[in-house]
Amino acid sequence: MNQQHSGTAPRGRFITFEGIDGAGKSSQLAATVALLAARGIDVEQSREPGGTALGERLRELLLHEPMHLETEAMLMFAARREHLAARIEPALAAGRWVVCDRFSDATFAYQVGGRGLARDKFDALEAWVHPNLQPDLTLLFDLAPEIAAARVAATGADPDRFEREQRDFFVRVRAAYLERARRAPQRICVIDADRPPETIRADIERLVRERFLA
Ligand code: TYD
Repeated sequence: MNQQHSGTAPRGRFITFEGIDGAGKSSQLAATVALLAARGIDVEQSREPGGTALGERLRELLLHEPMHLETEAMLMFAARREHLAARIEPALAAGRWVVCDRFSDATFAYQVGGRGLARDKFDALEAWVHPNLQPDLTLLFDLAPEIAAARVAATGADPDRFEREQRDFFVRVRAAYLERARRAPQRICVIDADRPPETIRADIERLVRERFLA
């Protein structure tokens, strides 16, 4: 997986962060990027939906504009197609690492688990957009929806279309994430996000070190 080389540089690593809204992945992601950069690794930070100029415009629509659930799923993958072509693939091919806030596991969790998109439609979109690529490592921040919702509320920011969903939605999203982790246990590491940030950070540092820097 992801071991092809292009030119002389060894292919970069692709690491993704996942979890329900409020699970606390964003600050840990920044810490991981800093850790890798301090090790002299050429690393790019990105996010989905987003990561390119077009992707960020699609993000605005996805987060704020009501739409059919299949439109939502296709726009997530449209943004991803652009992101892969314009940023992720070129970076990995040039030996740069990419650390991304969410990727296709989020579509499985939110659109299939949360919204009820048919699985075969998700599978078809994933097979179309990235048939031969999966992250090298995915850190799944797992947290009870009640705790996550309290954290989102505490930020005081205006909630987006997803953050406004009710507890049941996030119960389904969480279950879909955990199901996906069970199906790809080598790739997806479940992180108990109900612990102090320093403890979580130490866990992630150990995981990344064992996996890639040993
Ligand atoms: P996120 O970047 O976590 O939002 P924030 O800026 O508030 O931290 O994610 C944006 C939202 O998009 C999040 O609620 C999950 C949702 N999402 C999907 O529903 N499907 C997807 O495929 C992706 C990538 C995100």
